[in-house]
Amino acid sequence: MIETVRTLSELRDSISAHRQAGRRIGLVPTMGALHEGHLALVDIASNHSEVVAVSLFVNPTQFAPGEDLDRYPRDEDGDKAKLESRGTSLLWAPDPQEMYPDGFATSVHVDGPSQGLETDHRPHFFGGVATVVAKLLLQVLPDVAVFGEKDYQQLQVIRRLVRDLDIPVEVIGGPTIRETDGLAMSSRNAYLSKEHRAVAPSMKRIIDDAGKQVLAGGDPQATEDAAGAALLAAGFEKIDYVAIRNADSLAKVSQAEVKEGSPLRVLAAAHLGTTRLIDNVNPRANN
Ligand code: PAF
Repeated sequence: MIETVRTLSELRDSISAHRQAGRRIGLVPTMGALHEGHLALVDIASNHSEVVAVSLFVNPTQFAPGEDLDRYPRDEDGDKAKLESRGTSLLWAPDPQEMYPDGFATSVHVDGPSQGLETDHRPHFFGGVATVVAKLLLQVLPDVAVFGEKDYQQLQVIRRLVRDLDIPVEVIGGPTIRETDGLAMSSRNAYLSKEHRAVAPSMKRIIDDAGKQVLAGGDPQATEDAAGAALLAAGFEKIDYVAIRNADSLAKVSQAEVKEGSPLRVLAAAHLGTTRLIDNVNPRANN
């Protein structure tokens, strides 16, 4: 049976009982509306720990006014049933007042990997993510915490946060889980109309092709531009970015660095109607 806790004092009691029993704790932070991508992260956490805690909190501070906070899908009962079937022990589901009590006045700013890409289009986003993730890690004090590679820049920001603040947790990135047609699983896919759902998988094909082209000697900037045009031709309505970056630092790469074997990631964000999709691939691996 999964134990659901909604207050910090209940969470601390539960965590300290597990600690006293000498159990390793794994945390999977989520905003709920769970799909197989999240459950794969839960499976990774259970391979690295004896107690898997999942947080379910739709974090208001990572949404800008006018974004989808109010319509973000919520299904706590459904999420609980899925988590129970994967052996989760603890569900940490605070309400916003518990997480951000009156007078809350602290925010965590990570520089470095948070520059550019998502920040150019959602400037509020990583401040909200870094603050809530720092809180979640300090609340649960897990041995390991698992985050999806689907949000690749977020994963790099969290790795930087944990290193810079000396938070004693091992961060593990879980591979992106895809639908059979290649679309990366995301809670926001539920917003897609039938027509947009048919267009969405082309993002993965286009960033795969961009990766192949740059590995074959293509100029990174020209390849990014061509991939942006290909997304528009496929039916995406607005392109936020296609970017070929160093996979560790997220800095731009030259063709000389590609040839020298630098780790690479191709990342994209684009809009279909009111839905914004992001995806990324490692062109040096089969994914
Ligand atoms: O990736 C997410 O679902 C969220 O950004 C996270 C890490 C749970 C923080 O709210």
